[in-house]
Amino acid sequence: MPSVTPAGPAESGPLLDVRDLHVEFHTRDGVAKAVNGVDYTVSAGETLAVLGESGSGKSVTAQAVMGILDMPPGRITGGEIVFKGRDLLKLGEDERRGIRGAEMAMIFQDALSSLNPVLSVGDQLGEMFTVHQGMSRKDAKLKAIELMDRVRIPAAKERVGQYPHQFSGGMRQRIMIAMALSLEPDLIIADEPTTALDVTVQAQVMDLLAELQRDLNMGLILITHDLGVVADVADKIAVMYAGRIVETAPVHDIYKAPAHPYTKGLLESIPRLDQKGRELYAIKGLPPNLLAIPPGCAFNPRCPMARDACRTDEPPLYEVNEERRSACHFWEETLNG
Ligand SMILES: Nc1ncnc2c1ncn2[C@@H]1O[C@H](COP(=O)(O)OP(=O)(O)OP(=O)(O)O)[C@@H](O)[C@H]1O
Ligand code: SF4
Ligand SMILES: [Mg+2]
Repeated sequence: MPSVTPAGPAESGPLLDVRDLHVEFHTRDGVAKAVNGVDYTVSAGETLAVLGESGSGKSVTAQAVMGILDMPPGRITGGEIVFKGRDLLKLGEDERRGIRGAEMAMIFQDALSSLNPVLSVGDQLGEMFTVHQGMSRKDAKLKAIELMDRVRIPAAKERVGQYPHQFSGGMRQRIMIAMALSLEPDLIIADEPTTALDVTVQAQVMDLLAELQRDLNMGLILITHDLGVVADVADKIAVMYAGRIVETAPVHDIYKAPAHPYTKGLLESIPRLDQKGRELYAIKGLPPNLLAIPPGCAFNPRCPMARDACRTDEPPLYEVNEERRSACHFWEETLNG
């Protein structure tokens, strides 16, 4: 088994501290700048929701953190990923592999393609313990049943020998959650964990994930398109646009008053039950081409508040207050408007 570097002295800081991360993809058409200086932190017991339209760099950032980025064509061109005091980008592949699963784990959208169709779910869950902890098959099976109970799969003892296709979509996603939790990692990254599920099942799976995260005091990064889903479960939100964080804030502050026009647009496009029939606002225009991100503020071609300075000066991530940042020159106006 690969050796894992002991955690450094910075254990009192955040569990994960992503600093100025840059990722590019070299494609036939040019260099796609997918991640352009992302900063975020997650502490133990905290849930960070990462939001933004398709292509904004949410998954690529997560893949860089997990160490599963497609390289090539991907390349990390700058930044640090400090996890439990160590910069993961300075570790070798063996050390990274030792951390995956045991210290940080990921849950993907599509359980069916992540699970092995020819192995029973019990064997797949048990493998976490036989491979990582040298447990006997018999004990690993008991552990698998315990995990299935934990994610509330009914009749776990009877179903442990069944195959993935014998479970419903929601149950399969519970199995993925069980697998991610099996070694009790400190950090879970859930990339659109409920997107493929029916609406009613989505809420159940999300509630389960949030409850387990609280019980185990894990850090959770929840990637989603859906601002409606995160209100109940997240502590803070990072909004991404064109590979940058454009706003980060405690969840309630952002709902009360966004400090970036893009966040405002996202919030206004959530369907609300109390406003049935009202026309839904959608952010006009398309996300930028990552091969040619507009100069100045990347959001300027779509921003209803854009003015001359926005087309030439790239806004830094301004400090709105201690807990809050916005990459808009006119954040004050947005916040009060
Ligand atoms: N394997 C790859 N090869 C080339 N470019 C890639 C690759 N993976 C990602 N990209 C580029 O990175 C951009 C950001 O991708 P990413 O998957 O992070 O978006 P996302 O925010 O997760 O979107 P979605 O909401 O659709 O999942 C893509 O638009 C694409 O240009
Ligand atoms: S900097 Fe300008 S273009 Fe960018 S979000 Fe703010 S107002 Fe809009
Ligand atoms: Mg994605």
